[in-house]
Amino acid sequence: MALLDKFAAADALKSQLEAGGHDPTQVVMDRIISPTEGIVEGRQTILAGTNNYLGMTFDPACIEAGKHAIETQGTGTTGSRMANGSFAAHAALERDLADFFQVPYGLVFSTGYAANLGTLTALLKPGDAVLLDADAHASLYDGCQMSGADIFRFRHNDTGSLEKRLQRLGERARDCLIVTEGLYSVMGDCAPLVDIVALKNRYGALLLVDEAHSLGVYGDRGCGVAEAQGVMQDVDFFVGTFSKSLGAMGGFCVSHHPELNLVRYVSRPFIFTASSSPSIIASTRESLRQLQARPELRETLWRNARNLYRGFQSNGFEVGPEISPVVAVRLGKKEVALPFWNRLLENGVYTNLMIPPASPDQHSYIRCSVSAAHSEKQVERIIEIFCQVKEQI
Ligand SMILES: Cc1ncc(COP(=O)(O)O)c(C=O)c1O
Repeated sequence: MALLDKFAAADALKSQLEAGGHDPTQVVMDRIISPTEGIVEGRQTILAGTNNYLGMTFDPACIEAGKHAIETQGTGTTGSRMANGSFAAHAALERDLADFFQVPYGLVFSTGYAANLGTLTALLKPGDAVLLDADAHASLYDGCQMSGADIFRFRHNDTGSLEKRLQRLGERARDCLIVTEGLYSVMGDCAPLVDIVALKNRYGALLLVDEAHSLGVYGDRGCGVAEAQGVMQDVDFFVGTFSKSLGAMGGFCVSHHPELNLVRYVSRPFIFTASSSPSIIASTRESLRQLQARPELRETLWRNARNLYRGFQSNGFEVGPEISPVVAVRLGKKEVALPFWNRLLENGVYTNLMIPPASPDQHSYIRCSVSAAHSEKQVERIIEIFCQVKEQI
């Protein structure tokens, strides 16, 4: 096979997606009007698939903080923290995050993807064992894979399956790492962390939880699913991203283990990439402050989440297992989901298309993410347009 022949499969997928009208991977937002509205192909469109859970992308204080940082510190850092030095704000954000999670140590990465790669490749080495939820995000999987550790996948959110794997590991279970998300990003279901923690403690394993989609969304203080389930102290490593509820870009790991500070010396995704620009760090710090100071944002988010979930349900759509700001509508076959997603876009609703192999089972879904910035009217309109499209398909 010639080197470039391997693209044949991607080319076939591209043609298939284009045949539906719009290629979901190529949607261009001509103009962003607000956290919940944009102009797509000349049409005013409700953004219902952007993970902008708290609507922070247009928060005036975050914008001001970002502008001030650009004016006073410049547009970029022009290199990695290891080689070019950290700006004071990077260290300050690490302290902010550690304080927020009530642990002593924090480390900031340039993306959420890099946070997972960087943390997992530092924690795991060939010969180690890692137990990974079957639906875990690609960045968690890639980090485990890159580390060279032995990966054992357990069935999604199935503690029976996790325990079987722990038992099979025998002595190795004492030194293994369990990896899970808080809120799962496709189906909008939460990990049973109380039961996972009980197993981790029984077998002496360590636990890493990715709260990418749950930060700012779950828990009284907005720390995530571990906080909501009362098990924060039993989590060894929290990872997360600035690109969702914090409305910026970047990632982090926080922990009560002092070894997190040593990750800086050995983690290639930390060492060999440029650090986040001053404006990103400044807007993220402000956003984290807002997240804590304005719990009402979470209340609005949850009201919108309940309305969307129940609205879909009462109109006969099959939705995920629990109410959350991620609402997945199951459409079964790809041949239904693809035109459905296209008609939604043409009618002014932007959502996320999930088709195999990118969906967790062999079914296709349209995924919506709700924001505190959505108005009740916008939520009603999303449901209305889903119903109209259902009639047309
Ligand atoms: C669970 C999870 N972890 C990590 C990431 C990566 O974060 P980022 O896009 O900020 O790099 C994502 C992104 O979608 C995610 O869903």
